[in-house]
Amino acid sequence: MLELTDVTKEYKVGGQVVRALDGVSLRIEPGQFTAIVGPSGSGKSTLLHLLGALDSPGTGSIRFQGAEIGGLDDDRQSEFRRHRVGFIFQFFNLLPTLSAWENVAIPKLLDGTGLRKAKPRALELLDLVGLADRAEHRPAELSGGQMQRVAVARALIMDPPLILADEPTGNLDSKTGASILELLGDITRQGNSVVMVTHDMGAVRYCDRLVTLRDGKIRSNERVEHTDNGEIRTMPVELTESMTDNAAADSETAGADSETAGAVRP
Ligand SMILES: Nc1ncnc2c1ncn2[C@@H]1O[C@H](COP(=O)(O)OP(=O)(O)OP(=O)(O)O)[C@@H](O)[C@H]1O
Ligand SMILES: [Mg+2]
Repeated sequence: MLELTDVTKEYKVGGQVVRALDGVSLRIEPGQFTAIVGPSGSGKSTLLHLLGALDSPGTGSIRFQGAEIGGLDDDRQSEFRRHRVGFIFQFFNLLPTLSAWENVAIPKLLDGTGLRKAKPRALELLDLVGLADRAEHRPAELSGGQMQRVAVARALIMDPPLILADEPTGNLDSKTGASILELLGDITRQGNSVVMVTHDMGAVRYCDRLVTLRDGKIRSNERVEHTDNGEIRTMPVELTESMTDNAAADSETAGADSETAGAVRP
């Protein structure tokens, strides 16, 4: 669904050039829940911004459902964002003077849908995130976790195939964070893709891909597998993809593969 090829992004500030992304190639499939992890400054948010066409790459290509989005002009970029992408940011970005349902409805209203049509859908989504009884509350009258759930509902109202989340659980207690992650997992099971930047390795158990960035480069790209005893285990994607490519791979090769599989994480 999304394919990045050799994407580079540099920022120039004063005389200094920062290479925030350096030759990133990555595929994201429909229904995939991808976690992006890595140290501060490794390029995670930059990558998310490029995936959502909030910014353009310096060089390289970003294709979404086969069409190049890397070099779109401003109008086409915002068109792409409005119809294809739902954003969930760490600090919610809710409008303080609007109620919960109005915040959820905003993308539809901006797209020209009338209030009478937008409201029932907004209420439905608030119900989905467990906030049916908070529809008339303003953001200041909600808890942090509730605000984040409003932001999730707002990200879903255009039914976008791609949801991008930057630290969606960063400000939440672990129980509320888990409910947001479960919700995002449900969304991927309906075929939408979620790409989530996180510092929380515990969040990775909800994902099926784990991409680690370091200094603007992909350090590892792993499939997340769940073991019978409730732990997770990661395995490099190249390995599993080459295994599918060679369905007839003999058991000797399979044995070698399992030895190079990533560590079991609690
Ligand atoms: N708008 C900008 N102008 C100049 N430099 C930037 C800009 N945005 C990011 N950078 C630089 O690019 C690098 C990558 O930044 P990015 O925000 O992608 O990191 P990150 O992995 O999201 O970090 P964090 O975990 O702290 O959020 C950093 O060195 C940062 O200083
Ligand atoms: Mg960041």
